[in-house]
Amino acid sequence: MGSACLILFALSCLIVGSAARPFYPPPSEVAEGERRPLQTSRPYNIAHRGSNGELPEETAAAYMRAIKEGADFIETDILSSKDGVLICFHDVTLDNTTDVAQHKEFANRNRTYVVQGNNTTGFFTVDFTLKELKSLRVRQRYPFRDQQYNGKFQIITFEEYITIALDATRVVGIYPEIKYPVFINERVKWQNGKKFEDVFVETLKKYGYKGSYLSDEWKKQPAFIQSFAPTSLVYASNLTDLPKIFLIDDITVPTEDTNQSYWEITSDGYFDFIKNYVVGIGPGKDTVVPVVNNYLQPRTDLIARAHAHDLEKFPKPISAPLHL
Ligand SMILES: *[C@@H]1O[C@H](CO)[C@@H](O)[C@H](O)[C@H]1NC(C)=O
Ligand SMILES: *[C@@H]1O[C@H](CO)[C@@H](O)[C@H](O)[C@H]1NC(C)=O
Ligand SMILES: *[C@@H]1O[C@H](CO)[C@@H](O)[C@H](O)[C@H]1NC(C)=O
Ligand SMILES: *[C@@H]1O[C@H](CO)[C@@H](O)[C@H](O)[C@H]1NC(C)=O
Ligand SMILES: *[C@@H]1O[C@H](CO)[C@@H](O)[C@H](O)[C@H]1NC(C)=O
Ligand SMILES: *[C@@H]1O[C@H](CO)[C@@H](O)[C@H](O)[C@H]1NC(C)=O
Repeated sequence: MGSACLILFALSCLIVGSAARPFYPPPSEVAEGERRPLQTSRPYNIAHRGSNGELPEETAAAYMRAIKEGADFIETDILSSKDGVLICFHDVTLDNTTDVAQHKEFANRNRTYVVQGNNTTGFFTVDFTLKELKSLRVRQRYPFRDQQYNGKFQIITFEEYITIALDATRVVGIYPEIKYPVFINERVKWQNGKKFEDVFVETLKKYGYKGSYLSDEWKKQPAFIQSFAPTSLVYASNLTDLPKIFLIDDITVPTEDTNQSYWEITSDGYFDFIKNYVVGIGPGKDTVVPVVNNYLQPRTDLIARAHAHDLEKFPKPISAPLHL
């Protein structure tokens, strides 16, 4: 019954209006001190893009479902619309997880841009206003997942995502990624010369997110800032003391901003540098325990070396709904 209710309710919210989010009582209706605190006695359950194995990724429904299932943190990727509104969306293009191809009015928006050194073709979020993005509906990324919720949910904004966490009846943390910052800063301009990273941190501050890892103010509204781009993390460290996580891609992908190789950014010397700005790393799980022909290989020394540099680890799996 639980899941049916959740889905029906989420649907009725969407029909009533895109701004609707009454599933959890607003924070004002929850007495101070009443909410169950974040658990810190075991590893965190981090819902990667929400409960995306069940419901289309990064939608309100996927995040509410993850909270219902007990996630300590809900994870998201932040990109921007053409008019500078931050949204929860994973790919630079809309093609793989929305119905944009069915919208004839947008047929002429197909573009090719260089993203992370590669020509990428499709319908880019940065070529659509928020209003246009809201007219699309999200669908499952993979055919082996449940397709019945395709076309039912909208893309949500960073602020809408934050309110889902804040409105939960217990303390639920957020885990947003500064996604493709080099590309976003190239294509989107904000007033007063602000950068993507500035707007990202301002949004967190607007909703009261602050404090270093495990401080009292942090535990009230826990948040991690994650990015694959070291310059974004170093820049953000000047703006907020919220804990940051350095994401590390697979061994073939250089950093998008500094063009450093996997080997460079996982060296002891680099860990010594980056630990001044971040509390942990988020390596791809294959760099922790490699897989060859479907067989797990011996674990690498990555985690042991990161711990030797006092870095926590938060492996970032590819396409798993929850990660520890
Ligand atoms: C979309 O899916 C195709 C096919 O799986 C894949 O090759 C492509 O990289 C995906 N695009 C993005 C932007 O992830
Ligand atoms: C977008 O443009 C590419 C390259 O011209 C083309 O292959 C692709 O089919 C187009 N996609 C859509 C949905 O129009
Ligand atoms: C760019 O394309 C190359 C060659 O196809 C590929 O090896 C590499 O992984 C791509 N880089 C990214 C960041 O997608
Ligand atoms: C992208 O495509 C254009 C046009 O075909 C080409 O001139 C350019 O070299 C390509 N860039 C990259 C990074 O592959
Ligand atoms: C951090 O702020 C200081 C003081 O405003 C400035 O000098 C420095 O360049 C900034 N560092 C980064 C990485 O932006
Ligand atoms: C990135 O580094 C590689 C390897 O050193 C080099 O071949 C490539 O030209 C560099 N790319 C850019 C955009 O600087």
